Amino acid sequence: MKTKSRRSQDGHSRKSASSHDGNGLHELFEMELKDIYWAEKALTKAIPKMISKATSEKLVSALEEHLSVTEKQVRRVEQVFELMNVPPKAKKCEAMDGIIKEGEEIMKEAEKGMTRDAGIISAAQKVEHYEIASYGTLCAFAKILGMDREAELLAQTLEEEKEADAKLSEIAESSINEEAMSEHGMTN
Ligand SMILES: [Fe+2]
Repeated sequence: MKTKSRRSQDGHSRKSASSHDGNGLHELFEMELKDIYWAEKALTKAIPKMISKATSEKLVSALEEHLSVTEKQVRRVEQVFELMNVPPKAKKCEAMDGIIKEGEEIMKEAEKGMTRDAGIISAAQKVEHYEIASYGTLCAFAKILGMDREAELLAQTLEEEKEADAKLSEIAESSINEEAMSEHGMTN
């Protein structure tokens, strides 16, 4: 008989899982977790590049803060894997890879200054929105799968991503966008 607790004692999900008993969702959860694990780790390398290209002190400090938050978020994803008795494994997130690459392009094309800062914020907010969507979904999946502790950890990260997004909006709208208006900025 198929039961909801199809996760075996050693935590490995079974290949014969059916999508009718919650296991399909469990596998999807695991897949998405591997995706966000890759994304967070990639961000710990991408954010320092954004910091080195940013001009506004407010933006630099917001990015620095988010870098240390991101490092904690990587650990938190590892904790979720641990709770599931699954070894942490990353699976390349093509979407995040693309968002990061687009950000790098913007940084190359815009000269140092507020226009480039506005571009960095645009890329960083796309990152945040992807993460908000991912963590929102992971959190909902964890809740329905009865993984309460995992859901709590994921909800914590979800809140941090929302805060980071709001902070970036505030920085852009309070000064950077207007200052970028009076710059030439883009090289092509
Ligand atoms: Fe994150």
